[in-house]
Amino acid sequence: SREEKIQLLKDNIGAIQDFPIKGILFRDIFTIFLEPKILQACIDIMIDTVKECSKDIGGIVGLDARGFLFGPSIALALKVPFIPVRKAGKLPGETIKESYDLEYGSNTVEIQKNSIKPGQRLLIVDDLLATGGTLKAACNLIEKVGGITDSCLVLIELTALKGRENVPSKVVSLIKYD
Ligand code: PRP
Ligand code: ADE
Repeated sequence: SREEKIQLLKDNIGAIQDFPIKGILFRDIFTIFLEPKILQACIDIMIDTVKECSKDIGGIVGLDARGFLFGPSIALALKVPFIPVRKAGKLPGETIKESYDLEYGSNTVEIQKNSIKPGQRLLIVDDLLATGGTLKAACNLIEKVGGITDSCLVLIELTALKGRENVPSKVVSLIKYD
């Protein structure tokens, strides 16, 4: 069942204390990728969730770097474009930038101006929601280039940080930790 698959994922996500700095309990999604069956369950659940929760999605926006691991598989399943939001300085051509604070450190992300059509409905995908700064920045970028954020999908939500309150869009998460 869906609940069993989600529990399988939860049981197979690594947890490392004090990485990358003291005080952070780091959730390591790459343990999922070591087991093809678990990775398949993860991708299947993400695709099922998008098909249930979102309508008329015209593109998937994936966030650098761990959103890139899930976004293209979802885009293929929906037969829609995949659009990257990257850390600053990596994308060629005309771009728009947005800066924000992280659970650890700060960051600037950017999107290519010509990657989104006016009014295109987009689903943002990332691995994890912490403070919500990254998803908020992605929503702001999409608005600035003329797109519409339908919703955000993350595999993991760190609920104690209340990050979803910072995100100006619906957020769907599959696995929650305090
Ligand atoms: C992590 C994670 C999310 C973001 C969540 O990425 O993959 O993108 O932090 O944090 P927030 O909700 O507080 O914004 P990170 O910036 O560490 O980069 P990486 O994907 O390149 O590892
Ligand atoms: N990104 C922000 N906070 C994180 C955490 N606790 N584990 C993994 N990735 C993160």
